[in-house]
Amino acid sequence: MSTIAQILPDGRIGEGIQNYSSNWDRKNLSKDGNVDGRVENYADVINGYYDGATELYEYGWAQSFHFCRFYKGEAFATALARHEHYLAAQMSLRPGMRVLDVGCGIGGPARQVARFADVQVVGVNNNAFQLGRAARYTQEAGLEKNVSFVKADFMKLSEQFGENSFDAVYAIEATVHAPTWEGVYGEICKVLKAGGTFGVYEWAMTDAWDPSLPSHKELAHKIEIGSGIPEMRPLRKAREALLSVGFTIEHEEDLAERPDTVPWYYPLEGNLSDAQTVWDLVTVWRNTWSGRITTHYGLWAAEKLGLVPKGTWDVGETMKIAAEALVEGGKRKLFTPMYLVICRKPQAN
Ligand SMILES: C[S@@+](CC[C@H](N)C(=O)[O-])C[C@H]1O[C@@H](n2cnc3c(N)ncnc32)[C@H](O)[C@@H]1O
Repeated sequence: MSTIAQILPDGRIGEGIQNYSSNWDRKNLSKDGNVDGRVENYADVINGYYDGATELYEYGWAQSFHFCRFYKGEAFATALARHEHYLAAQMSLRPGMRVLDVGCGIGGPARQVARFADVQVVGVNNNAFQLGRAARYTQEAGLEKNVSFVKADFMKLSEQFGENSFDAVYAIEATVHAPTWEGVYGEICKVLKAGGTFGVYEWAMTDAWDPSLPSHKELAHKIEIGSGIPEMRPLRKAREALLSVGFTIEHEEDLAERPDTVPWYYPLEGNLSDAQTVWDLVTVWRNTWSGRITTHYGLWAAEKLGLVPKGTWDVGETMKIAAEALVEGGKRKLFTPMYLVICRKPQAN
């Protein structure tokens, strides 16, 4: 018997949220679970996650859904924006360029990059709910002429935009969701003009990660289940994939290796002593023991009252699993959310 998916008025799909966590062997996360199914059905798995997680990200983080480095004394929102500006500067974006943001979330980075570099940004995302919010925030910011959004799968970019159509492309903590890095990087290379730049902050397990160790496997699966990632892979595979699709790597660096006194994972750790402003205290508090308990019961009540879709509470539970694994992965240098690569598409002969 076929079932018709229940699409909510805001674009979210109820079943996707409710079924999301069943894609992993939740009782034993050192096991791979149905990894082939997750990779094959990546679009449904990822949309199920973001349909449940997006409001929680906005509540507990910001309009930019990524990590960043911190200077001592720097406010959380400033540090997030600096991370975006840094990528734009490393890519040498110039006024008037047409730039693609791959996996654009609700458009936080796109709005920052458009303002900072004076470029036209097109954000692509496969999640209808996020795109509705992205359009609304962009209009509120008065940036509709500079930032636009398209609903598409980043595994089919050339079908959507045609080849050689962007001066530059960037992706911030998004392409880790791809079923294969070769597939998404290959599509990015196609839509980029010859000589154009691709800049990426990639999520990866570091070269210290050893998948033959059950505890390392478990760490990766905990990150996956709480972040909507079908399969975590090692950093060297990202490098190999970039080269295999034809990019020349001009700069690569794991920014998590910089000797920062305030680590990138401090907000997730709930480390109130590193918070710099009153607003940061609120954000970081949400990740403390008491903040998590408050969210846990608050979200449970919101779901019972029908204020959030069914399954949202469960997605929130998986996010707690990831938060702990991300901090552990960061401390043990087994995981990075900021493998920076600046690549170039070679000039046509
Ligand atoms: C962690 S969020 C990062 C969002 C944004 N780059 C930011 O930093 O705010 C990952 C994003 O990738 C998008 N995404 C995942 N898989 C995708 C796909 N196959 N096609 C297009 N977008 C995708 C998600 O919907 C989500 O918006």
